[in-house]
Amino acid sequence: MLNKLKEIANNSEKWLSQAGSIDEINELRVKVLGRKGEITQVLRGLKDLNAEERAGVGKIANELKEKLEDMISSRTQDIKGQELELQLARESVDISLPGLPLQRGGKHPLTLINEEIRDIFLTMGFSVAEGPEIESDYYNFEALNIPRDHPAREMQDSFYISEDILLRTHTSPVQVRTMEKIAPQIPVKIIVPGKVYRRDDDATHSPMFTQVEGLVIDKRITFGHLKGTLMLFAHKIFGEDVKVRYRPSFFPFTEPSAEMDISCVNCKGAGCRVCSHTGWLEILGAGMVDPRVLQYGGYDGEQVTGFAFGMGVERIAMLKYGINDLRLFFDNDKRFLRQF
Ligand code: DAH
Repeated sequence: MLNKLKEIANNSEKWLSQAGSIDEINELRVKVLGRKGEITQVLRGLKDLNAEERAGVGKIANELKEKLEDMISSRTQDIKGQELELQLARESVDISLPGLPLQRGGKHPLTLINEEIRDIFLTMGFSVAEGPEIESDYYNFEALNIPRDHPAREMQDSFYISEDILLRTHTSPVQVRTMEKIAPQIPVKIIVPGKVYRRDDDATHSPMFTQVEGLVIDKRITFGHLKGTLMLFAHKIFGEDVKVRYRPSFFPFTEPSAEMDISCVNCKGAGCRVCSHTGWLEILGAGMVDPRVLQYGGYDGEQVTGFAFGMGVERIAMLKYGINDLRLFFDNDKRFLRQF
């Protein structure tokens, strides 16, 4: 029996020193200390010995049992420690790796153009005015010399909230709103950027789009001021080599009225698909403020004169950047937006 105990001791120590996992140690625990384990067996056999031997062997067996329990638990701790180290090593963060780049947004092309247009007019001494997008029939039409039933209303069909309230169809109502605030003082020299709404929807028309309005009122303002101001604007935004021409036109709120064309930015005037083979591109409407509109705003057309203009920002952006579908501005496709 003593030999058997010695054998158990030797085998167990060897096993423990070779064990590489908690499972292997548990296997040993069952094999040696378990209910049917080797030491348990020895202890059960004690009853067949005489009293003297029983005491001796029993003591040794119990000591071995305790010793093995200690060894098993300390080896278990060792292995757990090793496994933890391994796990930590596997999961460690390499702080020398470069980080993931932050995805930075950029300005929308319409914002860029709006800022460019604004800056050009600010350097010419204009200031920025704004007005409501939900507008009354009075400011959107009536005070701009477009009475009810006037055929000019047909070109600007809109979204009506009630018979007298609508989403504004242009930024021109801010002309009269501003005049009312400033009159009878002079000068008035403003631009009005903002969203406008019409019942239109195709590759070059959107139900919501952006305009910039301009208004100058002072003593002895002439058509020459209009031409000089807008030519400077065209050169600043499309380049010095661009040519400008004015064609007679009609707007109820200006007299005389004109449309300004620039030489085609695509073919430089030779004629191409972009300019419908005319060599020219229409970019804005303008004119001398009709005396009736001045009167609605609180000015006397005998004392002061003024010019006004209005342009579509999307159109300017399309021509400047060579974009052929207006809907791209509102699709929020990053592949498009990233290019600006
Ligand atoms: N409001 C006009 C439109 O949306 C554009 C316009 C034309 C504005 C001539 C003006 C102007 O101020 O003088 O079609």
